[in-house]
Amino acid sequence: MPVEVLAFIGGTGPEGLGLAVRFAAAGHEIVIGSRSPERAQQAVEKITARVPQARAAGMVNQEAVRRGDIVFVTIPFVGHRDTLAALAPDIGAKLVVDVVVPISFEGGKIAAIAVPEGSAAQQAQSLLPQAQVVAAFHHLDAGQLMRVERPLAADVLVCADHQQAKERVMALAEKMEGVRALDGGPLANSRYLEEFTVLLLNLNKTYKARTSLRITGISPTLRG
Ligand SMILES: NC(=O)c1ccc[n+]([C@@H]2O[C@H](COP(=O)([O-])OP(=O)(O)OC[C@H]3O[C@@H](n4cnc5c(N)ncnc54)[C@H](OP(=O)(O)O)[C@@H]3O)[C@@H](O)[C@H]2O)c1
Repeated sequence: MPVEVLAFIGGTGPEGLGLAVRFAAAGHEIVIGSRSPERAQQAVEKITARVPQARAAGMVNQEAVRRGDIVFVTIPFVGHRDTLAALAPDIGAKLVVDVVVPISFEGGKIAAIAVPEGSAAQQAQSLLPQAQVVAAFHHLDAGQLMRVERPLAADVLVCADHQQAKERVMALAEKMEGVRALDGGPLANSRYLEEFTVLLLNLNKTYKARTSLRITGISPTLRG
């Protein structure tokens, strides 16, 4: 089966770039999207510096979305609504993976931003009614993702209302060495994924760490 082409809206930032590096290493074709074709090209150079065999291209977000089989949203929450509304006709019914954490860093305090729809991922689903929105990867730190030579040691919790889309993203997550994917339930649960990230970032600050998440107590034989 051909591997999916993965497009990253805002793939020039550390999180999109880190995910792209890991998936490029796993053999996926990568399309980095940006508001600027020059920044997209620079991001591609960063990918090939870490994964010389990478198949990656850079272009503006709209073109990247058109090229991707799966579209990752890796932009700050401040640009989430307007960016997705503008790209909705190009995204259509595609599978969308929303990684966005609605977060503020005001006055040195890390805090969650309340989202009227419940979560960033639910906001994406309401803006993209035909798309299959999946919330995932919030708890993977960009710095750890970029060190592609080191396996991760983390669970990726995946929430969605579309079962097949959820399973595709869970399979994708497990292509990263050291990652276990867990079914986190419906998209309404994505608010917990997003908000828990705020706690991880507070822990990072307190302990000068780069935390991720491991859930214990799940029998491997009971995994879906
Ligand atoms: N960093 C992490 O470790 C981490 C971990 C988990 C989740 N996340 C979440 O993942 C998302 C991306 O994180 P990041 O650290 O990579 O973010 P970032 O560096 O702040 O932004 C990523 C890219 O988004 C684009 N962008 C910036 N402002 C925008 C706007 N107003 N409208 C549209 N595009 C805009 C920029 O690309 P161009 O200028 O090239 O268009 C930028 O390079 C965030 O929502 C974050 O909460 C981050």
